[in-house]
Amino acid sequence: MRHLLDTSSLSRQDALAILDTAEEMAAVSSREVKKLPTLRGRTVVNLFYEDSTRTRVSFETAAKRLSADVVNFSAKGSSVSKGESLKDTVQTLEAMGADAIVIRHGASGAAAQLAASDWTEAAVINAGDGTHEHPTQALLDALTLRRGWCPAHGRPPRGGDLAGMKVLIVGDILHSRVARSNVWLLTTLGAEVSLAAPATLLPKGISDWPVTVHHSLDAALAADPDAVMMLRIQAERMGGAYFPHAAEYTRRWGLTDERLTVLQQLQMGGTSEPALLLHPGPMNRGVEISAAAADSPQAKILDQVAHGVAVRMAVLHLLLSQNHDDGSTA
Ligand code: CP
Repeated sequence: MRHLLDTSSLSRQDALAILDTAEEMAAVSSREVKKLPTLRGRTVVNLFYEDSTRTRVSFETAAKRLSADVVNFSAKGSSVSKGESLKDTVQTLEAMGADAIVIRHGASGAAAQLAASDWTEAAVINAGDGTHEHPTQALLDALTLRRGWCPAHGRPPRGGDLAGMKVLIVGDILHSRVARSNVWLLTTLGAEVSLAAPATLLPKGISDWPVTVHHSLDAALAADPDAVMMLRIQAERMGGAYFPHAAEYTRRWGLTDERLTVLQQLQMGGTSEPALLLHPGPMNRGVEISAAAADSPQAKILDQVAHGVAVRMAVLHLLLSQNHDDGSTA
């Protein structure tokens, strides 16, 4: 792997290598001294054209734990407001010596464009591009799911996959790069993915995706998922009215306190372990998820955040500290 651009082209072997390396990085993160010297002298640039809390901070934390130098660039407050292009911004950062560029951009395909360009020699990591993909989010979600699924079946997470796990993703699929990256990655790892969303928030061509689609959240929960991932309504990407109003959305598609009691009865396939509840964040409490659900024992939302650091350490380590002569991307 030279870049990490998506999960749709990420092989099972590479996905498992990232997850297994993340297990090692998680062990480092639980030590008193949380640092490794692996990337000493290397520079990681966080190039963020869209807002972020979790992804930007965890990439910065991950790079610092690997002893890399970190440059944080936010389009807000930069010369982008004076009309500077992505090419000129990247070449400016390249001239300062970037070994990896972590890019979040509102345009789908921005990370791939950067990787294909001759603007930089740096490894490119997609931290979310428009409505296309958010690969490290899906990898940290997979790590969270695997840490629940494998031990519930008497197996260690390391080396394991998600074969047979039923994962339900609920909400604004249309605008969600998280949903797309999860569908491709979780399917690669053997999970059975289903989606529940209003018809207006499902993308065209959904029938070609390797998923089951539910048109009722209650019916989707009755199908006995092993994990439920709630998605945020992405109001910032909505130009029109996709549902009547927030209260109506919550009534039909929200993980309300009533639906939480249903979720609390679910157990992971053939075991007595409770089903898992995930949310990539940021959450709109009271809209797609109730406060009680977000704070329930089944919610793995803060575990997801912690796993984000481990996964991003693994990705930076694998991209920057090994010889990459195969020229492949993911
Ligand atoms: N999940 C996620 O990408 O969160 P941020 O937008 O805070 O990075």
